[in-house]
Amino acid sequence: MKTQVAIVGAGPAGLLLGHLLRAEGIDCVILERQTREHVESRIRAGVLETVTTDLLHRLGVDAGLNAHGMMEEGFNLADGERIVRIEITALTGKHVVVYGQTELTRDLIAAAPERGLQIIWEAKDVALHDLTGAPSLTYSNDGVEHRVEADFIAGCDGFHGPSRRAIPAEHARQFEREYPFGWLGILADVPPCHPELIYANSDAGFALASMRSPTRSRYYIQVPRGERLEDWPEDRLWDELERRFAPLAGGAVIRGPALEISIAPLRSYVFEPMRHGRLFLAGDAAHIVPPTGAKGLNLAASDVAYLSDALIAWYRNGDEAGLAGYAAKALARVWKAERFSWSLTKLMHRFPEDGAFERRMQIAELDYLAGSRAMQTAIAENYVGLPL
Ligand code: FAD
Ligand code: PHB
Repeated sequence: MKTQVAIVGAGPAGLLLGHLLRAEGIDCVILERQTREHVESRIRAGVLETVTTDLLHRLGVDAGLNAHGMMEEGFNLADGERIVRIEITALTGKHVVVYGQTELTRDLIAAAPERGLQIIWEAKDVALHDLTGAPSLTYSNDGVEHRVEADFIAGCDGFHGPSRRAIPAEHARQFEREYPFGWLGILADVPPCHPELIYANSDAGFALASMRSPTRSRYYIQVPRGERLEDWPEDRLWDELERRFAPLAGGAVIRGPALEISIAPLRSYVFEPMRHGRLFLAGDAAHIVPPTGAKGLNLAASDVAYLSDALIAWYRNGDEAGLAGYAAKALARVWKAERFSWSLTKLMHRFPEDGAFERRMQIAELDYLAGSRAMQTAIAENYVGLPL
């Protein structure tokens, strides 16, 4: 098979990129290791920046978003009984939209056939070849070997995919910070405990109250790294959520059967550069943020906004500048999101190695934040997303 752009991975980065290229008539194909059912049932992020929703509107893949997305004009940072509302719309003129990654992914997959975007599901053993010459991909499907030749390869295959690993180590640098905890998340059909998101630093550790709709809640709690799901029967998790939200007035957590429970480790990671020859990395394939800033999915979207512009310019008028500048442009935004996600993680979590001094630093920071419009504005403008 020959195509113009071969995309590895049908997560948000690969799907958005595929649609953006198809909208300009550029040929592309997406190779995805998993089944469609698997990809459509993964529960992940929930908060979209306008950078991300603008892409969906531009593509016209926005019926679900328009019907079910919940516009949020503020969110809350809490510590003990204290709660500080960050009035994101009053401070920045922007908002965020609560709309699940699961739903966004389903919408993009459903719209693919009518736009000529081919997705090959269950593409096994994807391997990348000749990245600085005439690039190609090989994979197997139903026991048959296939080869795809392309002008460019987009590595949108997440943290564990093969694209980043195909770049020789001598051309790369990695920056990493692992956190000594993970997030245990639950999705349940119960009304959220609060109309807006609450990020809470409690004596028992961090907790987040989020939602997917007025009748569907998404909660997370900080748990030690290496914690196993078997040790968290639903009742234990609900008890812990009640305990962590108890100090907050109106923080009435309603229990219900879990639609999904999972644990995700927290990590900060950046791989530089995001290009090698004719391979371009985007999204989690190149960087990971801890989910505290709600930036992972949104960074995948901003990467592919830059990358699609660069590819389109190349196909339209042979303009190389966009492709040459992609890595630097994307990384400049990535590092700022890394900084924001890291600083909010530090402010809101209990680190096992921290002592009384670090705890007082957290309290002092929240106290300062509560009285400083300047600091609230800095948090708000990062939360709604820095401009492209
Ligand atoms: P992914 O969504 O990881 O998509 C990569 C795709 O590539 C996948 O479909 C994968 O199956 C495919 N792939 C992998 N290997 C291969 C291969 N060998 N061949 C072909 N295809 C391959 N962010 C938040 O903001 N909030 C959250 O609550 C949150 N929770 C998360 C929970 C988990 C378990 C994970 C892993 C991430 C979470 N994130 C969260 C981060 C956010 O979901 C990601 O930043 C976002 O999914 C990035 O999109 P992506 O398309 O770059 O990568
Ligand atoms: C979610 O709803 O899944 C969610 C919301 C905000 C975050 C992370 C996850 O920061």
